[in-house]
Amino acid sequence: GFVIGSAVAGGGHHQDEDYPDPFTGDQAYRQLLAQEFSSLSAENQMKWDHLRPSPDEYAFEDADAIVEFAQANGQDVRGHTLLWHSQNPDWLENGNYSPEELRAILQDHVETVVGRYAGQIQQWDVANEIFDDGGNLRTGDNIWIRELGVEIVGDAFRWAHAADPSAELYFNDYNVEDVNAKSDAYYELTRELLAEGVPVHGFSAQTHLALQYGFPSSLQRNLERFEALGLATALTEVDVRMQLPDGGEPTEQQLEEQADYYARALEACLNVSGCESFTVWGFPDRYSWVPNTFPGEGGATIYWDDYTSKPAYDALRETL
Ligand code: XIL
Repeated sequence: GFVIGSAVAGGGHHQDEDYPDPFTGDQAYRQLLAQEFSSLSAENQMKWDHLRPSPDEYAFEDADAIVEFAQANGQDVRGHTLLWHSQNPDWLENGNYSPEELRAILQDHVETVVGRYAGQIQQWDVANEIFDDGGNLRTGDNIWIRELGVEIVGDAFRWAHAADPSAELYFNDYNVEDVNAKSDAYYELTRELLAEGVPVHGFSAQTHLALQYGFPSSLQRNLERFEALGLATALTEVDVRMQLPDGGEPTEQQLEEQADYYARALEACLNVSGCESFTVWGFPDRYSWVPNTFPGEGGATIYWDDYTSKPAYDALRETL
C-alpha cells in the first residue's frame, strides 16, 4: 500500500528542444510512468505560469491530461503548487496590485484550481518554499508574503480546505530533510497554525540530494517530530545528483553511492508510520531538471536514458 510517485516531465523552463514533450510524445516514458508508479506530480503543469496566462484565464489542458492519465491508471495525484515565490507569471509579479487585489487573486486561484480537481487530487503542496535556508520567511521574493504578511499562508490552507475537504494539505520545501534552522521554522509555524485551527495536514521534504553534500542523517528523526505534531509526511521530489565533469558518465562508485542515498531516504520514510509517499522528481536522466539548474551535475534519476534501470532503482526495490 505504500505510494511511490514520479513527477511528470514537461513544460520546464529549459526543456531540451532535442526531445519531444515526454508526456505527450514518448510512449516508452508513458508506459513506465503508468506501470512503475502509484502517484503522479506535475513537474510544472500546475504552477502559476502554466495555469494562468493572463489575469482572467485558466489554462487547464496540461494539468487535466495528467489527472486523466492518473485516473486511467489508478494513480494518485499530488498537486504542485498554490503559493510559491517562483514561476509566477509576469502579469502577477509586475502588476502593481494592491494587497486587497492580491488577496482576491490568490483566493480565486486556490478555489478555482483546488475546486476543479476536488476528489481527484489527494495531496496539495499548498505552500512551497516559504522559508530561506536560514529559516527566515521569504519576505523579499515571495510576493504573497511580502505584500500580505505570513497570515496569507493560513488563508491559503483554509481556502484550499474549503474547496476540497478531502485533500491533504502540505508544506513543501528543499533543504528541510535534516533537523536544521529551516525545518525548525516549519515546525514552529506549523505548531502555531495548528493551534489556530488552520487545516495543515502534512509536511514534505523535497529531498533533492547531492553526493557531494552528504546524506541528511537526521531525516528520520525530523520526519518523526512532524509526525508527533499529528502531521502526515512525505518525500516529494527525490533525486540524487552528482558531479559529472564535461557531461561524463557516472563512475561505479558514484552509482553505488547514489543507490545507497535513494535506499536510505526510502528507508527513513518507511520507518515513520505517517510518511505516506516517496516521489522521484522525474526520469530518465535526460528529462531531469538537474543539468539545467546545476551546471556540471547530473545523473540524478533512477533510470538510464534507454529506460534500463540504474543500481538506484534496484536498491529502492530491495528496500520496499
Ligand atoms: C523545477 C522543474 O523540475 C523544472 O522543470 C523547472 O524549470 C523549474 O522547477 N523545487 C520545486 C519544483 O518545488 O517545482 C522545482 O521544479 C524543483 C525545485
